Amino acid sequence: MGLLSFMPNEKDVKKLQQTIKAYEENEHWQLYLWKEAEDVLGAIGVYIDHENNQVVVQHISVNPSYRDMGIGRKMIEAIRSIYQEKYSIMANDLTKPFLSKCD
Ligand SMILES: CC(C)(COP(=O)(O)OP(=O)(O)OC[C@H]1O[C@@H](n2cnc3c(N)ncnc32)[C@H](O)[C@@H]1OP(=O)(O)O)[C@@H](O)C(=O)NCCC(=O)NCCS
Repeated sequence: MGLLSFMPNEKDVKKLQQTIKAYEENEHWQLYLWKEAEDVLGAIGVYIDHENNQVVVQHISVNPSYRDMGIGRKMIEAIRSIYQEKYSIMANDLTKPFLSKCD
């Protein structure tokens, strides 16, 4: 929850709680955590659109103390390697700048 709160659209606690609930309950919403040793350093959340064969990166966030070390890029690569065989990997308006950077 702390990590997702760094997303510009998740500053409001109620909105953030709804987002967490969707990741817990909606099978189309999947949240992956980047762990090193026992520490969670990053989070990346996707929406899986089976009908259109698209995976939309909705959230991506790295602990501020661990930024600019390549973790964000590695999370994008991991999502690509999991899904790219069957799905197009897309960004939303919020994640587009960083995804474009990773191309
Ligand atoms: C965006 C974010 C996940 C990047 O994670 P990271 O682990 O620091 O990224 P990496 O180390 O893999 O890549 C760093 C590069 O991405 C660039 N970058 C960082 N944030 C960026 C952004 N919002 N848009 C475009 N590029 C960005 C850095 O300038 C750096 O560029 P360089 O390699 O030319 O120096 C992290 O900055 C973050 O958690 N931001 C707050 C949440 C957020 O705004 N998410 C939406 C991003 S569009």
